[in-house]
Amino acid sequence: EGNKLWGGRFVGNTDPIMEKFNASIAYDQRMWDADIRGSKAYVKALEKAELVTTEEMNSILHGMEQISEEWAKGAFVVKPGDEDIHTANERRLKELIGEPAGKLHTGRSRNDQVVTDMRIWLCDAIATLKEDALQLVATMVERASVEIDVLFPGYTHMQRAQPIRWSHWILSPPAECGGFSHLMSALWPLSSYMKLMVLVWVVFSGAIAGTPFNIDRELLRKELEFDGISINSMDATGERDFVAEFLFWASLCLTHLSKMAEDLLLYSTKEFSFIALADAYSTGSSLMPQKKNADSLELIRSKAGRVLGRCAGFMMTIKGLPSSYNKDLQEDKEAMFDCFDTLHGALRVTTGVMSTLKINRPVMEAALSPDMLATDLAYYLVRKGLPFREAHGLSGRAVFQAESKNVPLNQLTVEDLAAISPLFDRDVAAVWDYSSSVEQYSAPGGTARSSVTAQVQHLRRWLQDH
Ligand code: ARG
Repeated sequence: EGNKLWGGRFVGNTDPIMEKFNASIAYDQRMWDADIRGSKAYVKALEKAELVTTEEMNSILHGMEQISEEWAKGAFVVKPGDEDIHTANERRLKELIGEPAGKLHTGRSRNDQVVTDMRIWLCDAIATLKEDALQLVATMVERASVEIDVLFPGYTHMQRAQPIRWSHWILSPPAECGGFSHLMSALWPLSSYMKLMVLVWVVFSGAIAGTPFNIDRELLRKELEFDGISINSMDATGERDFVAEFLFWASLCLTHLSKMAEDLLLYSTKEFSFIALADAYSTGSSLMPQKKNADSLELIRSKAGRVLGRCAGFMMTIKGLPSSYNKDLQEDKEAMFDCFDTLHGALRVTTGVMSTLKINRPVMEAALSPDMLATDLAYYLVRKGLPFREAHGLSGRAVFQAESKNVPLNQLTVEDLAAISPLFDRDVAAVWDYSSSVEQYSAPGGTARSSVTAQVQHLRRWLQDH
């Protein structure tokens, strides 16, 4: 059978149904460049081991460059029997340079190639995602800095909680860039940690037993700019932790984007009207002419489910596999590509949404209500010496009384309040000011102007370092 890399012991033809089921070329051709980079490095190791002559090496290198040009121009023709990218490139090499092409695979396996290609490809992909993420953080930080004086309701349990700065909300996803719990914590380790993780091992260690030839793996490591070489050939070809970690990282990242999208969706409803999405990130209804739907945000929210599904699906695939390479592992690539594409798109759309949405400041500020200052009312009593627990109870009584009298909390008279606690005095009037309320929260991480400014500065410094 013509092109097969493994035809020797076979007599009949592969059933076309099986041929199609088995082939990965439709998607793994995305790794053509990584595959060629790997082969170019490998032939140098072959030459050093005197398994190919210098002339043969040069011919292979030259052929590989031609193939690379063909792919880059979109001129590479995938032929029937090109089972995967490794097969396709080797088949083409043979057409171009003839016999020496058959020496390239000495001492290596596609099991090596595939995992090496994926690591190379993922490193580049991560660099792209890092750029996307930096753009998003930069957009959010700038927005936070410009709109720092806008106040609006903060919610917990989706119930009105306390007045906060809009910028405090904006900065919550990109916060904690060094840590592991927020959007960027999912992104930043990505850039340093993921790269490390991906680069740590270069493979080309042989299919299972290793390689019997004098292949200089350190030379391969240097050629491919990897950080180290795998110490066990079975592990090197049979494990996909780097894929699983990438999928998890992408899932976590999209989970944060999804939550953010959910807030924005709510804020963009007529009932809230805190924000208006740009037309560029909205779509209409084919039936109801007045509709402007925030499809961008809904899609961002939905992509989290898709990527989490990929991650869970792949974990299911690898659990219980016997050691070393099994064809099940071929499933790793669609998961990896799809998660990359999805996250790449979601990050860029989020940046677009965040840089173009308009806020409705009067509505945001008008949405604040005195009951959201009940905590501050308790703090008023704390400042007069009362234990917080007691102050909380008394402020709660005031809330109850206002509700019973059907008046806003700040409309209770000093006499009403004094009946609840003699500590309430005329100066309680100062509590009912949203601007001074937020300014109390000036400890690091709080919503006071100074703390939000510090967050902006922190993230700006961090952006400069990345
Ligand atoms: N297309 C395969 C994959 O994606 C490459 C490795 C195949 N190895 C093998 N021994 N059949 O995993």
